[in-house]
Amino acid sequence: MAPSYDGLTFSPVPKAFEPTAAFSIPVTTLHHSTYPAISALRPELSQAGKTVLITGGGTGVGFSIAQGFASAGAAKIILAARRQDVLDNASKKLTAEFPAVEVLVHPLDVSDGESIAALWAWLEGHGLVVDVLVLNAGIASPPVTVGNMGHKNIWEFYKVNVYGHVMLSDYFIKQEGKRAGLGPKVCDITTPDSEPCHTE
Ligand SMILES: NC(=O)c1ccc[n+]([C@@H]2O[C@H](COP(=O)([O-])OP(=O)(O)OC[C@H]3O[C@@H](n4cnc5c(N)ncnc54)[C@H](OP(=O)(O)O)[C@@H]3O)[C@@H](O)[C@H]2O)c1
Repeated sequence: MAPSYDGLTFSPVPKAFEPTAAFSIPVTTLHHSTYPAISALRPELSQAGKTVLITGGGTGVGFSIAQGFASAGAAKIILAARRQDVLDNASKKLTAEFPAVEVLVHPLDVSDGESIAALWAWLEGHGLVVDVLVLNAGIASPPVTVGNMGHKNIWEFYKVNVYGHVMLSDYFIKQEGKRAGLGPKVCDITTPDSEPCHTE
């Protein structure tokens, strides 16, 4: 029987694809690692010389994105999130794997406007101009309806997953200085508002 959460029913996934997932999958092939068509090593995907800022880049999806940009030849990768020890460990790991890449870390709480302002002040103070902004930091909601979440939880989710991203993007598009190569890029990874990469 199809699983249901709080009145919502999800389509069961064919056993051949993902026996444990509770979502329907609109594709016939599932990949669990990169493949040639999207390889970071493809020349046309080169990120040579670029400075990439990744929010929540110390763990999970964000750290994998950092590895992808490092593989593609990014010059500088900045990892920003709340836990300094996690960022420091990620920086060590990335530097060991990609010694040619300069890895920097900075504390950031995307739900806090002052923290976002402090990050951009630090970037400016160090002459760092961001070419690619990856909005990855995010929190996932439990499978409940908006009515059952309560307005305080909704506001916390909104601050992290939406408002923080809007504010970071605002600083990004208004930053001064010369960027490397083609125009600036924003990639939004979070589930609630994810879209493919955007250009200004
Ligand atoms: N995992 C999936 O299957 C999946 C699927 C689709 C989309 N996504 C999206 O991909 C993104 C990463 O997912 P994940 O699975 O890698 O999650 P994760 O392991 O929980 O990582 C989230 C990262 O965001 C940071 N973060 C959380 N709140 C923050 C805040 N207020 N300010 C700054 N940084 C914050 C965390 O670091 P600190 O705690 O140190 O701040 C952590 O590094 C999320 O936006 C998620 O919605 C994930």
